[in-house]
Amino acid sequence: MERGGGKLAAVVAVVTEPQFTQRYRDYLEREKLLDRQHRVEKMPDGTVALPVRGEALPEQHLQELRTHVAPGSTCTLTQLLDPVPSKKAQACSPAQRLCLEVSRWVEARGVTWSAELEADLPRSWQRHGNLLLLSEDCFQAKQWKNLEPELWEIVASALGVQRLAKRGRVLPDGTRTPAVTMLLGDDGWVEHVDNGIRYKFDVTQCMFSFGNISEKLRVASLPCAGQVLVDLYAGIGYFTLPFLVHAGAAFVHACEWNPHAEVALRNNLEINGVADRCQIHFGDNRKLKLSNVADRVYLGLIPSSEEGWPIACQVLRKDTGGVLHIHQNVESFPGKNLQPPGSSELGKEHWPYPQQIIPNQREHEAPGDSRRKVLSAAIKPEWHRWAESAETRIVALLQQVHGKPWKTRVLHIQPVKSYAPHVDHIVLDLECRPCPLVG
Ligand SMILES: C[S@@+](CC[C@H](N)C(=O)[O-])C[C@H]1O[C@@H](n2cnc3c(N)ncnc32)[C@H](O)[C@@H]1O
Repeated sequence: MERGGGKLAAVVAVVTEPQFTQRYRDYLEREKLLDRQHRVEKMPDGTVALPVRGEALPEQHLQELRTHVAPGSTCTLTQLLDPVPSKKAQACSPAQRLCLEVSRWVEARGVTWSAELEADLPRSWQRHGNLLLLSEDCFQAKQWKNLEPELWEIVASALGVQRLAKRGRVLPDGTRTPAVTMLLGDDGWVEHVDNGIRYKFDVTQCMFSFGNISEKLRVASLPCAGQVLVDLYAGIGYFTLPFLVHAGAAFVHACEWNPHAEVALRNNLEINGVADRCQIHFGDNRKLKLSNVADRVYLGLIPSSEEGWPIACQVLRKDTGGVLHIHQNVESFPGKNLQPPGSSELGKEHWPYPQQIIPNQREHEAPGDSRRKVLSAAIKPEWHRWAESAETRIVALLQQVHGKPWKTRVLHIQPVKSYAPHVDHIVLDLECRPCPLVG
């Protein structure tokens, strides 16, 4: 989300000779007609243009200026196609500028500007190049309907973009398709560059979460050299690409069932030059015909990827096992303290034999110095409890799928973002290894 800036719309101005400028200005100010958001401009023929509010200056005012305010003055109207923002306007935030531009335009249409309309303007948005994606909680008042579609031109112009789209709720259809509609422009394709990786996708068909950037960076730094990965919820390649481009993965099997996301993913693999190290498995990952291949499985689905856990266990390598990265939204309750650093039992192995406590540890850190660094991050008790229950379930699934006992160990719990009040999006890194045969 951003609060960006941009160029302003054309404005109407009244033109007169320089010696009448001050009298015109006084009159327009008195009548509340002077547009203070734009500078008075000197025209090429030496006349002066004073920007006015609204789409035109009613004839009565023009008459008044010509005959009483400044007799003998030339008084014509013009349009400043490239108006220069005044110092005051330049100091505005984009949201303030949007409010000024829209209110001015709305009033010129005879609609009364109200606190309700002002509160219904967007305050934040996602910028994708020249496309601005508005959130669902703006432009909901009925009055806007009569002002469409020109309204969208004004909004886009005030915020310096050519295309506008508006988000609805993420559809509960499993594809996590955001119900996005184009308000201005027909084409929803955009390009993003994140950590040196190019992502192209259609905002009306695929989701892009800016909030996951910390996790994308973390994934990019995981020690995956030479490893085979399965990304069970690949989308447009949010995690598949950092694994291939930065983390050195040898090969990624990327699963995706949204045809629009699959098209974008295929294209993104090509434009980032890693298509030869990825196989896309189009369709429902629960029916995936793949087993015993993965050193690492990525399960990037919220609120929960639990339906993918059996297949994640199936694709792990039978001989050596690997690491599962499991996303989950975990609810926590206000008023409870965070687990103090160091008191966490993370790292306790889920082991079928008498167990040893192992400090919580990131994969690429030496076991010896891991506790100090990693446990300095506060872990909520609810995250910890969820991790333990996930671990218990996965040990059982591994035993069931592979027909022999496995051990698991919580390597790390990574907070990604606050998803909603008291709901955190976290990732559990769970190491899973087959138990050595005894006797
Ligand atoms: C939340 S998006 C995630 C993309 C990316 N992992 C992220 O977190 O930003 C989840 C993706 O998984 C896909 N998906 C959900 N369930 C699936 C299933 N059973 N099989 C294949 N793809 C699935 C959706 O279409 C969507 O593109």
